[in-house]
Amino acid sequence: MTSEIQTSSKLRWIETELQSLKDNGLYNRIRTLSSPQGAWLVVDGKRVLNFCSNNYLGLANHPRIVQAARETVERYGVGPAAVRSIAGTMDLHLQLEQRLATFKGVDSAITFQSGFSANLAVIPALVGKEDAIFSDELNHASIIDGSRLSGAKIIRYAHCDPADLQRVLQENRSAFPRAMVITDGVFSMDGDIAPLDKILEVAQQYEAILMVDDAHGEGVLGKGGRGIVDHFGLHGRVDVEVGTLSKAFGVVGGVVAGNPLVVEWLRQRGRPFLFSSAMTVPDVAACLAALDVLEESTELVDRLWDNARYFKAEMLRLGFDTGKSATPITPVMLGEAPLAQQFSRELFNNGVFAMALGFPTVPRGKARIRVMISAAHSKDDLDQGLQAFARVGRGLSVIS
Ligand SMILES: Cc1ncc(COP(=O)(O)O)c(C=O)c1O
Repeated sequence: MTSEIQTSSKLRWIETELQSLKDNGLYNRIRTLSSPQGAWLVVDGKRVLNFCSNNYLGLANHPRIVQAARETVERYGVGPAAVRSIAGTMDLHLQLEQRLATFKGVDSAITFQSGFSANLAVIPALVGKEDAIFSDELNHASIIDGSRLSGAKIIRYAHCDPADLQRVLQENRSAFPRAMVITDGVFSMDGDIAPLDKILEVAQQYEAILMVDDAHGEGVLGKGGRGIVDHFGLHGRVDVEVGTLSKAFGVVGGVVAGNPLVVEWLRQRGRPFLFSSAMTVPDVAACLAALDVLEESTELVDRLWDNARYFKAEMLRLGFDTGKSATPITPVMLGEAPLAQQFSRELFNNGVFAMALGFPTVPRGKARIRVMISAAHSKDDLDQGLQAFARVGRGLSVIS
């Protein structure tokens, strides 16, 4: 009893913080799915159109991929039961790494448990407290955390601005033995694409290691979804390409692809590789099958882009502001977080599941609904979604 009282007083600040999140419309109410991923979901017991998932190509519940995972589990069981460097490296992991390297057109690749882990592994392995990281100001949280873990000095440059990168490198580069330039490939909140060709030119001028995190470009950009390096034709020129197997691949996992020296170094010094268990058997098997699907045809990637172009054009015609997206990520800019939350609730009442994003995920005053378009959507699905957006948008006076 005494200890309960002590605990509650020690932790009371959390109640205050949570209340403040609720008062400011920033509290995450987490919904529960009871169906597989797809164009439609059962969420909190209701069948709704899915505009939320990163299931760009509809692979998360693809029959061939599910079947591959099932068959492999019959042969290998489910878990790796060890970290990669002790007894967790199965021939399946090596197959996946070879296949990913071939798919991305690089010499080597190494997998991790997630894209987040990949960033926590690679950044501290390449730079330390004597060094500097030049980081796009809107880089993903996992890049920020990986950068902080490295202990390197973090110098931010203006979003997607090679001239500003040049300025900060010019001012600071000579003070540090090693420098690393890091950018998201596709920025997940706005759907814009980093000008990687220009960033590469600047990074080369200052002998900086270049890393791109292609989490939202993998399976989306480039020929047949080969990613941002393929999109810009920069094969062999980007030192580190981080990717995730949790979005377009429809599974879970992360990958670092690129220079074989970097990959070999990560096998020795990548802490999530050394100290956290390997990817599970069904995940690896599903990723291998996802690669089969991607390598056989560009059909799903093409459909994804057709759907995205159609949806965005119609949203603009309705009068919505979809920001600066150049990819299937479609932000619907609303301004204040409470409006975005209300919009999302009303969409849900109209049978559409599209989440509101507010601070700290996006800057204050830039709250939005983020629509994630997928190849799994039919034209009819997109039309139903557009009708719901029009109804709710007019009801809340966002459009006329
Ligand atoms: C740029 C970026 N990097 C990394 C991640 C994390 O990927 P994962 O879900 O595989 O951990 C995300 C996911 O939101 C992302 O957008």
